[in-house]
Amino acid sequence: MNRPLAAITGASAGIGSVFARKLAAQGYDLLLVARRQDRLRELAAELEHACQIHVETCAADLSVGGEMDRVAARLAAEPRLDLLVNNAGFGAKGRFYEAPLDEQLRMHRLHIGAILRLTHAALGAMVARGRGAIVNVASVAGFTRSPGSVSYCATKAWLNAFTEGLYLDLRSARSPVVVQALCPGFTHSEFHDVAGVERSSVPPSFWLTADQVVDASLEGLRRKKLFVVPGWRYKLIVGLAYRIPQRLRLLFEGASPHNRAKLTGQRDRA
Ligand SMILES: NC(=O)c1ccc[n+]([C@@H]2O[C@H](COP(=O)([O-])OP(=O)(O)OC[C@H]3O[C@@H](n4cnc5c(N)ncnc54)[C@H](OP(=O)(O)O)[C@@H]3O)[C@@H](O)[C@H]2O)c1
Repeated sequence: MNRPLAAITGASAGIGSVFARKLAAQGYDLLLVARRQDRLRELAAELEHACQIHVETCAADLSVGGEMDRVAARLAAEPRLDLLVNNAGFGAKGRFYEAPLDEQLRMHRLHIGAILRLTHAALGAMVARGRGAIVNVASVAGFTRSPGSVSYCATKAWLNAFTEGLYLDLRSARSPVVVQALCPGFTHSEFHDVAGVERSSVPPSFWLTADQVVDASLEGLRRKKLFVVPGWRYKLIVGLAYRIPQRLRLLFEGASPHNRAKLTGQRDRA
Protein backbone atom coordinates (compact mmCIF):
# COMPACT_ATOMS: atom_id res chain seq x y z
CA MET A 1 0.00 0.00 0.00
CA ASN A 2 2.50 2.59 -1.15
CA ARG A 3 -0.03 4.65 -3.04
CA PRO A 4 -0.04 8.38 -2.28
CA LEU A 5 -3.03 9.67 -0.30
CA ALA A 6 -5.24 12.64 -1.19
CA ALA A 7 -7.49 14.14 1.49
CA ILE A 8 -10.54 16.06 0.23
CA THR A 9 -12.91 18.05 2.40
CA GLY A 10 -16.47 18.57 1.18
CA ALA A 11 -16.25 15.39 -0.88
CA SER A 12 -19.92 14.43 -0.55
CA ALA A 13 -21.06 16.70 -3.40
CA GLY A 14 -20.12 19.06 -6.22
CA ILE A 15 -16.50 20.03 -6.84
CA GLY A 16 -15.18 17.85 -3.97
CA SER A 17 -16.79 14.68 -5.33
CA VAL A 18 -15.32 15.39 -8.77
CA PHE A 19 -11.86 15.81 -7.22
CA ALA A 20 -12.39 12.41 -5.58
CA ARG A 21 -13.33 10.74 -8.86
CA LYS A 22 -10.45 12.23 -10.85
CA LEU A 23 -7.81 11.56 -8.18
CA ALA A 24 -9.06 7.99 -7.74
CA ALA A 25 -8.63 7.49 -11.49
CA GLN A 26 -5.03 8.72 -11.12
CA GLY A 27 -4.38 5.99 -8.51
CA TYR A 28 -4.53 7.98 -5.27
CA ASP A 29 -5.92 6.43 -2.11
CA LEU A 30 -8.46 8.84 -0.65
CA LEU A 31 -9.55 10.29 2.68
CA LEU A 32 -12.97 11.86 2.16
CA VAL A 33 -14.39 14.32 4.67
CA ALA A 34 -17.88 15.87 4.94
CA ARG A 35 -20.89 15.74 7.27
CA ARG A 36 -23.02 13.32 5.19
CA GLN A 37 -21.47 9.94 5.90
CA ASP A 38 -24.01 8.05 3.73
CA ARG A 39 -22.92 10.01 0.65
CA LEU A 40 -19.23 9.50 1.45
CA ARG A 41 -19.69 5.75 1.92
CA GLU A 42 -21.56 5.45 -1.37
CA LEU A 43 -18.82 7.32 -3.24
CA ALA A 44 -16.09 5.32 -1.48
CA ALA A 45 -17.68 2.00 -2.49
CA GLU A 46 -18.01 3.15 -6.10
CA LEU A 47 -14.39 4.33 -6.34
CA GLU A 48 -12.88 1.35 -4.53
CA HIS A 49 -14.65 -0.94 -6.96
CA ALA A 50 -13.90 1.08 -10.11
CA CYS A 51 -10.29 2.10 -9.39
CA GLN A 52 -8.97 -0.62 -7.03
CA ILE A 53 -7.86 1.95 -4.44
CA HIS A 54 -8.50 2.34 -0.70
CA VAL A 55 -10.95 5.02 0.40
CA GLU A 56 -11.41 6.08 4.03
CA THR A 57 -14.41 8.20 4.96
CA CYS A 58 -14.54 10.62 7.85
CA ALA A 59 -17.84 12.22 8.87
CA ALA A 60 -17.05 15.58 10.42
CA ASP A 61 -18.57 19.02 10.70
CA LEU A 62 -15.49 21.14 10.05
CA SER A 63 -17.10 24.23 11.51
CA VAL A 64 -16.95 22.58 14.94
CA GLY A 65 -13.63 22.91 16.80
CA GLY A 66 -13.40 19.36 18.18
CA GLU A 67 -14.29 17.83 14.81
CA MET A 68 -11.74 19.87 12.88
CA ASP A 69 -9.13 18.83 15.50
CA ARG A 70 -10.01 15.17 14.94
CA VAL A 71 -9.51 15.49 11.16
CA ALA A 72 -6.31 17.52 11.67
CA ALA A 73 -4.91 14.76 13.93
CA ARG A 74 -5.72 12.17 11.26
CA LEU A 75 -3.85 14.22 8.62
CA ALA A 76 -0.85 14.81 10.88
CA ALA A 77 -0.55 11.07 11.50
CA GLU A 78 -0.59 10.13 7.79
CA PRO A 79 2.87 9.74 6.23
CA ARG A 80 1.43 9.13 2.74
CA LEU A 81 -0.46 12.44 2.56
CA ASP A 82 0.48 13.88 -0.84
CA LEU A 83 -2.41 16.22 -1.55
CA LEU A 84 -4.87 18.12 0.65
CA VAL A 85 -7.87 19.73 -1.05
CA ASN A 86 -9.51 22.25 1.31
CA ASN A 87 -12.82 22.41 -0.52
CA ALA A 88 -15.69 22.33 2.02
CA GLY A 89 -17.67 25.55 1.94
CA PHE A 90 -21.10 27.09 1.58
CA GLY A 91 -22.76 30.30 0.51
CA ALA A 92 -25.50 32.35 2.12
CA LYS A 93 -27.55 35.37 1.20
CA GLY A 94 -28.92 38.44 2.86
CA ARG A 95 -27.42 41.66 4.19
CA PHE A 96 -24.78 41.00 6.85
CA TYR A 97 -26.60 42.85 9.62
CA GLU A 98 -29.91 41.10 8.82
CA ALA A 99 -28.57 37.55 8.38
CA PRO A 100 -28.21 35.29 11.44
CA LEU A 101 -24.88 35.93 13.16
CA ASP A 102 -24.53 32.24 13.91
CA GLU A 103 -24.41 31.45 10.20
CA GLN A 104 -21.74 34.10 9.57
CA LEU A 105 -19.64 32.70 12.42
CA ARG A 106 -20.06 29.16 11.10
CA MET A 107 -18.88 30.30 7.68
CA HIS A 108 -15.77 31.93 9.17
CA ARG A 109 -14.98 28.79 11.17
CA LEU A 110 -15.35 26.58 8.07
CA HIS A 111 -13.71 28.82 5.45
CA ILE A 112 -10.92 30.14 7.69
CA GLY A 113 -10.55 28.18 10.97
CA ALA A 114 -10.74 24.70 9.46
CA ILE A 115 -8.45 25.52 6.54
CA LEU A 116 -5.90 27.11 8.85
CA ARG A 117 -6.01 24.09 11.15
CA LEU A 118 -5.88 21.37 8.45
CA THR A 119 -3.18 23.14 6.44
CA HIS A 120 -1.05 23.47 9.57
CA ALA A 121 -1.51 19.78 10.32
CA ALA A 122 -0.49 18.75 6.79
CA LEU A 123 2.15 21.18 5.64
CA GLY A 124 4.97 20.66 8.15
CA ALA A 125 5.31 16.98 7.24
CA MET A 126 5.03 17.73 3.50
CA VAL A 127 7.90 20.22 3.76
CA ALA A 128 9.97 17.73 5.77
CA ARG A 129 9.36 15.05 3.11
CA GLY A 130 10.08 17.50 0.31
CA ARG A 131 6.87 16.69 -1.57
CA GLY A 132 3.14 17.37 -1.56
CA ALA A 133 0.53 19.92 -2.54
CA ILE A 134 -2.38 21.84 -1.04
CA VAL A 135 -5.31 23.14 -3.07
CA ASN A 136 -7.45 25.76 -1.35
CA VAL A 137 -10.79 26.14 -3.08
CA ALA A 138 -11.39 29.89 -2.91
CA SER A 139 -13.51 31.75 -5.47
CA VAL A 140 -13.64 34.58 -7.98
CA ALA A 141 -15.66 36.14 -5.14
CA GLY A 142 -12.37 36.49 -3.27
CA PHE A 143 -11.37 39.22 -5.74
CA THR A 144 -14.69 41.07 -5.67
CA ARG A 145 -17.25 42.35 -3.15
CA SER A 146 -20.93 41.71 -3.19
CA PRO A 147 -23.94 42.96 -1.27
CA GLY A 148 -25.69 39.95 0.26
CA SER A 149 -22.42 37.96 0.39
CA VAL A 150 -20.22 40.01 2.69
CA SER A 151 -18.79 37.13 4.75
CA TYR A 152 -18.47 34.85 1.73
CA CYS A 153 -16.36 37.35 -0.25
CA ALA A 154 -14.33 38.30 2.84
CA THR A 155 -13.50 34.70 3.78
CA LYS A 156 -12.55 33.83 0.21
CA ALA A 157 -10.36 36.97 0.01
CA TRP A 158 -8.65 35.74 3.18
CA LEU A 159 -8.11 32.36 1.55
CA ASN A 160 -6.48 33.94 -1.50
CA ALA A 161 -4.18 36.01 0.74
CA PHE A 162 -3.44 32.99 2.96
CA THR A 163 -2.46 30.85 -0.02
CA GLU A 164 -0.27 33.60 -1.44
CA GLY A 165 1.46 33.91 1.94
CA LEU A 166 2.06 30.15 2.08
CA TYR A 167 3.60 30.32 -1.39
CA LEU A 168 6.09 32.93 -0.17
CA ASP A 169 6.87 30.92 2.99
CA LEU A 170 7.56 27.81 0.91
CA ARG A 171 9.63 29.69 -1.65
CA SER A 172 11.72 31.28 1.10
CA ALA A 173 12.42 27.75 2.41
CA ARG A 174 13.18 26.50 -1.16
CA SER A 175 10.52 23.84 -0.64
CA PRO A 176 9.11 22.01 -3.68
CA VAL A 177 5.71 21.72 -1.95
CA VAL A 178 3.03 23.35 -4.13
CA VAL A 179 0.10 25.51 -2.98
CA GLN A 180 -2.77 26.59 -5.17
CA ALA A 181 -5.73 28.94 -4.74
CA LEU A 182 -8.45 27.53 -7.01
CA CYS A 183 -10.86 30.36 -7.85
CA PRO A 184 -13.97 29.17 -9.71
CA GLY A 185 -16.85 31.34 -10.82
CA PHE A 186 -20.43 30.04 -10.95
CA THR A 187 -20.22 26.25 -11.03
CA HIS A 188 -23.00 23.66 -11.27
CA SER A 189 -23.17 21.87 -7.91
CA GLU A 190 -25.44 21.89 -4.85
CA PHE A 191 -23.93 25.19 -3.73
CA HIS A 192 -26.75 27.46 -4.93
CA ASP A 193 -29.48 25.17 -3.54
CA VAL A 194 -27.80 25.24 -0.13
CA ALA A 195 -27.43 29.03 -0.29
CA GLY A 196 -31.01 29.46 -1.50
CA VAL A 197 -29.82 31.60 -4.43
CA GLU A 198 -31.65 31.70 -7.78
CA ARG A 199 -29.56 30.36 -10.66
CA SER A 200 -31.55 32.25 -13.31
CA SER A 201 -29.91 35.58 -12.37
CA VAL A 202 -26.66 34.28 -13.92
CA PRO A 203 -26.36 34.15 -17.76
CA PRO A 204 -25.98 30.53 -19.00
CA SER A 205 -22.60 31.24 -20.61
CA PHE A 206 -21.13 32.04 -17.18
CA TRP A 207 -21.74 28.58 -15.75
CA LEU A 208 -18.84 26.15 -15.40
CA THR A 209 -19.06 22.43 -14.76
CA ALA A 210 -17.30 20.92 -11.75
CA ASP A 211 -15.35 18.82 -14.28
CA GLN A 212 -13.94 21.96 -15.93
CA VAL A 213 -12.99 23.41 -12.54
CA VAL A 214 -11.21 20.28 -11.33
CA ASP A 215 -9.43 19.71 -14.66
CA ALA A 216 -8.09 23.29 -14.50
CA SER A 217 -6.91 22.73 -10.93
CA LEU A 218 -5.11 19.47 -11.73
CA GLU A 219 -3.47 21.04 -14.78
CA GLY A 220 -2.49 23.99 -12.54
CA LEU A 221 -0.88 21.57 -10.07
CA ARG A 222 1.17 20.05 -12.87
CA ARG A 223 2.32 23.53 -13.84
CA LYS A 224 2.73 24.64 -10.18
CA LYS A 225 0.38 27.58 -10.69
CA LEU A 226 -0.40 29.62 -7.56
CA PHE A 227 -3.77 30.98 -8.79
CA VAL A 228 -6.08 28.97 -11.02
CA VAL A 229 -9.11 30.83 -12.40
CA PRO A 230 -11.04 28.49 -14.74
CA GLY A 231 -12.68 30.03 -17.84
CA TRP A 232 -11.72 33.08 -19.89
CA ARG A 233 -14.67 35.17 -18.65
CA TYR A 234 -13.53 34.84 -15.06
CA LYS A 235 -9.89 35.49 -15.92
CA LEU A 236 -11.11 38.73 -17.48
CA ILE A 237 -13.23 39.65 -14.43
CA VAL A 238 -10.34 38.99 -12.04
CA GLY A 239 -7.96 40.97 -14.25
CA LEU A 240 -10.40 43.90 -14.41
CA ALA A 241 -11.14 43.82 -10.68
CA TYR A 242 -7.48 44.67 -10.08
CA ARG A 243 -7.21 47.31 -12.79
CA ILE A 244 -10.36 49.43 -12.73
CA PRO A 245 -10.76 52.20 -10.14
CA GLN A 246 -12.35 51.06 -6.90
CA ARG A 247 -15.35 53.38 -7.32
CA LEU A 248 -16.18 51.85 -10.71
CA ARG A 249 -15.77 48.31 -9.38
CA LEU A 250 -18.13 49.00 -6.48
CA LEU A 251 -20.66 50.46 -8.91
CA PHE A 252 -20.67 47.27 -11.03
CA GLU A 253 -20.79 45.04 -7.96
CA GLY A 254 -23.78 46.91 -6.54
CA ALA A 255 -25.68 46.80 -9.85
CA SER A 256 -25.16 43.13 -10.80
CA PRO A 257 -28.57 41.35 -11.01
CA HIS A 258 -27.12 38.26 -9.33
CA ASN A 259 -25.80 40.28 -6.42
CA ARG A 260 -29.14 42.03 -6.03
CA ALA A 261 -30.94 38.67 -6.02
CA LYS A 262 -28.93 37.74 -2.94
CA LEU A 263 -30.42 40.63 -0.99
CA THR A 264 -33.89 39.12 -0.91
CA GLY A 265 -34.83 36.73 1.90
CA GLN A 266 -32.63 34.51 4.00
CA ARG A 267 -31.50 30.94 3.57
CA ASP A 268 -34.10 28.43 4.61
CA ARG A 269 -31.60 25.66 5.48
CA ALA A 270 -29.51 26.08 8.62
N1 LIG B 1 -20.49 26.31 -6.97
C1 LIG B 1 -19.99 27.53 -7.17
O1 LIG B 1 -20.56 28.35 -7.93
C2 LIG B 1 -18.70 27.91 -6.50
C3 LIG B 1 -18.02 29.04 -6.99
C4 LIG B 1 -16.82 29.41 -6.39
C5 LIG B 1 -16.32 28.69 -5.33
N2 LIG B 1 -16.99 27.60 -4.86
C6 LIG B 1 -16.44 26.89 -3.71
O2 LIG B 1 -16.26 25.53 -4.05
C7 LIG B 1 -16.28 24.75 -2.85
C8 LIG B 1 -17.18 23.52 -3.09
O3 LIG B 1 -18.49 23.98 -3.32
P1 LIG B 1 -19.50 23.24 -4.32
O4 LIG B 1 -19.84 24.20 -5.38
O5 LIG B 1 -18.98 21.91 -4.69
O6 LIG B 1 -20.78 23.14 -3.35
P2 LIG B 1 -21.62 21.88 -2.83
O7 LIG B 1 -22.01 21.02 -3.97
O8 LIG B 1 -22.69 22.46 -1.97
O9 LIG B 1 -20.56 21.08 -1.92
C9 LIG B 1 -20.11 21.60 -0.70
C10 LIG B 1 -19.40 20.52 0.08
O10 LIG B 1 -18.94 21.08 1.33
C11 LIG B 1 -19.37 20.22 2.38
N3 LIG B 1 -19.58 20.98 3.62
C12 LIG B 1 -20.39 22.05 3.79
N4 LIG B 1 -20.37 22.45 5.07
C13 LIG B 1 -19.53 21.59 5.73
C14 LIG B 1 -19.10 21.48 7.07
N5 LIG B 1 -19.56 22.31 8.04
N6 LIG B 1 -18.23 20.49 7.40
C15 LIG B 1 -17.78 19.63 6.45
N7 LIG B 1 -18.14 19.70 5.16
C16 LIG B 1 -19.01 20.67 4.80
C17 LIG B 1 -20.66 19.58 1.87
O11 LIG B 1 -20.87 18.31 2.48
P3 LIG B 1 -21.90 17.99 3.67
O12 LIG B 1 -23.13 18.83 3.45
O13 LIG B 1 -22.11 16.52 3.52
O14 LIG B 1 -21.15 18.33 4.92
C18 LIG B 1 -20.31 19.35 0.41
O15 LIG B 1 -19.59 18.14 0.26
C19 LIG B 1 -16.75 25.68 -1.73
O16 LIG B 1 -15.66 26.08 -0.95
C20 LIG B 1 -17.33 26.88 -2.49
O17 LIG B 1 -17.23 28.06 -1.75
C21 LIG B 1 -18.17 27.19 -5.43
